[in-house]
Amino acid sequence: MMIQPLAEQQLAAGMLQEKIRTRTARVGIVGLGYVGLPLAVEFARAGFDVTGIDLSYKKVEAVNAGESYVGDISGDVLGPLVASKKMRATTDFSVVRDLDTINICVPTPLRKTKDPDMSYIVSACQEIARFFHAGMLVILESTTYPGTTEEVVLPMLAKSGLQVGKDFFLCFSPERVDPGNPKYQTINIPKVVGGVTAACTEMGRLFYAQALETVVPVSSTQVAEMVKLLENTYRMINIGLVNEIALMCDRIGINVWEVIDAAATKPFGFMPFYPGPGLGGHCIPIDPFYLSWKTKQAGIEARFIELAGYINGQMPHFVADKVQGALNDVGKPVKGTRIHVMGVAYKRDIDDVRESPALDVMGLLVRRGATITYSDPHVPSLSLEGEELKAQPETAAGAADCVVIVTDHSDFDYAALLQRAPLIVDTRNALKRFSSPKIVRL
Ligand SMILES: NC(=O)c1ccc[n+]([C@@H]2O[C@H](COP(=O)([O-])OP(=O)(O)OC[C@H]3O[C@@H](n4cnc5c(N)ncnc54)[C@H](O)[C@@H]3O)[C@@H](O)[C@H]2O)c1
Repeated sequence: MMIQPLAEQQLAAGMLQEKIRTRTARVGIVGLGYVGLPLAVEFARAGFDVTGIDLSYKKVEAVNAGESYVGDISGDVLGPLVASKKMRATTDFSVVRDLDTINICVPTPLRKTKDPDMSYIVSACQEIARFFHAGMLVILESTTYPGTTEEVVLPMLAKSGLQVGKDFFLCFSPERVDPGNPKYQTINIPKVVGGVTAACTEMGRLFYAQALETVVPVSSTQVAEMVKLLENTYRMINIGLVNEIALMCDRIGINVWEVIDAAATKPFGFMPFYPGPGLGGHCIPIDPFYLSWKTKQAGIEARFIELAGYINGQMPHFVADKVQGALNDVGKPVKGTRIHVMGVAYKRDIDDVRESPALDVMGLLVRRGATITYSDPHVPSLSLEGEELKAQPETAAGAADCVVIVTDHSDFDYAALLQRAPLIVDTRNALKRFSSPKIVRL
């Protein structure tokens, strides 16, 4: 084991602080996806020299050509940063030798059993550890269960013999990016950061303060990890609650959308959440199960999470039943009918179909014998039940027996849709301003 003398340790911390303050620190971002690419761009814009590391040759080539594949980052922003050599990408982890900081933004999916899949974090850390050196700041940003940074990442880096808080600095900082949100982007979403030691937290705070507007230091990595899980569990449970209210309103014949809009006029103590066809994306349907997995080990059943997970999981079935009911009301069976889905991304104005409830709704309708087509300006093709579907122009809705609005993209021409479609099941209240017997609302 290598032990650094005290003077050398202080030197390592002081030199890193100085490099961060003067923005001469060489920044590395591991995982150039929806989270990592915008983060890399912000640090390059702040004047740092940024190297992205990703296993995907396609993404690395795109970045090095100045081409963005993430909706929130335009090629006009990325191109000049790459051309001026402020930013580049590689698949080769040996660049870690020359880096001063690393943010880890790799995926953290669930296994089929709903257990956390740590394999991406572990494999990224194994590679980082091969080229790890004194004077580095490492920050995990991937959403994960409380304890991951200290239980999984720290031992892998500490194998080097370097001492955390002295020779190197380790933090967790939850990523809160909201793809497709034009108001809140990486730069102006407050950044929570917690370190293994107070010196780590301070190093993390100093680092983010160079590129982002607001930094919120917390006392530990576990607090920072838990912050993210509280935020996403809060959303998941409130969506579960409002979905259950929607099911109740449907049963007793009340327009749930009108109820929510009126309740939202209360200036305190109420925050509106909206029902829909089910949860989607890489965060809300997944992250709360990281928490329930962890707390189960401590003997606590996360009952709200399980219940909300159950109700949210029922919503695609409810939508499929709603479509079947609407068709039956006009004398048509589902079997053999053409159903056109408007929007397949998991939320408005983005191209991400991960965990999208549209896939569940479409799958259920196919299994009931319907033929499915879809329109989505952001998703040119998708694979459904082993078949490749291509996006159709919006006019294709005119040839369908029933249209289902699953994702309420801003670009859709809803007035024209109402003209051409014979029957519309609207799961998002996208047709709020219209009134027609053709419309069946959730
Ligand atoms: N997408 C969101 O809206 C969002 C929001 C908040 C938090 N998060 C969290 O951030 C993390 C990243 O999510 P994302 O949406 O950016 O994922 P993503 O799939 O878009 O990007 C992850 C990238 O990591 C790369 N990668 C995988 N393993 C790697 C490895 N070992 N080394 C280097 N690169 C590797 C992949 O090729 C991919 O480009 C996840 O933990 C997610 O839960 C995502």
